[in-house]
Amino acid sequence: MEMPEIDASREQPEDETQFIAWKHEYSVGVKKLDKQHMKIINILNDIHNYRKEKAGPLDLENILNDLLLYTRTHFADEEGLLRLVGYPKFTEHQEVHYGMAQKTQAICEAGLDDRDDLSLELLTFLRNWWVDHLENEDRRYVPYLALFMADRD
Ligand SMILES: [Fe+2]
Ligand SMILES: [Fe+2]
Repeated sequence: MEMPEIDASREQPEDETQFIAWKHEYSVGVKKLDKQHMKIINILNDIHNYRKEKAGPLDLENILNDLLLYTRTHFADEEGLLRLVGYPKFTEHQEVHYGMAQKTQAICEAGLDDRDDLSLELLTFLRNWWVDHLENEDRRYVPYLALFMADRD
């Protein structure tokens, strides 16, 4: 009997047209938080597209307002859950969030002041911070959320 063909689409690299691509490994096991992480990634991709296309249908003011709003909302929701499950590194995580919320506000204000030259450096900083946070910091609380949810079943 012939072996079934391997589904090569699973092996394909991430979409390289995206500034940041969502990966399954980023999932923290809570839909609401995953959706917020995806939304933030989408917003960063929108900012990147804005830089490339210089406006078009995208409105930088709305994008940056969204970024600030979603960043703050996400941090507050995530912290609420981490406090609920008694995450031992809660204070450290909250401090990291606080620092980033301050930086995001400064970046958004700078971006609106000089919308023709939203620096790639700032955008790259945002990307690197979020990728690192998703791949490292947020991963650390996943077992605590899982344990908490398993206990409630
Ligand atoms: Fe976080
Ligand atoms: Fe997060």
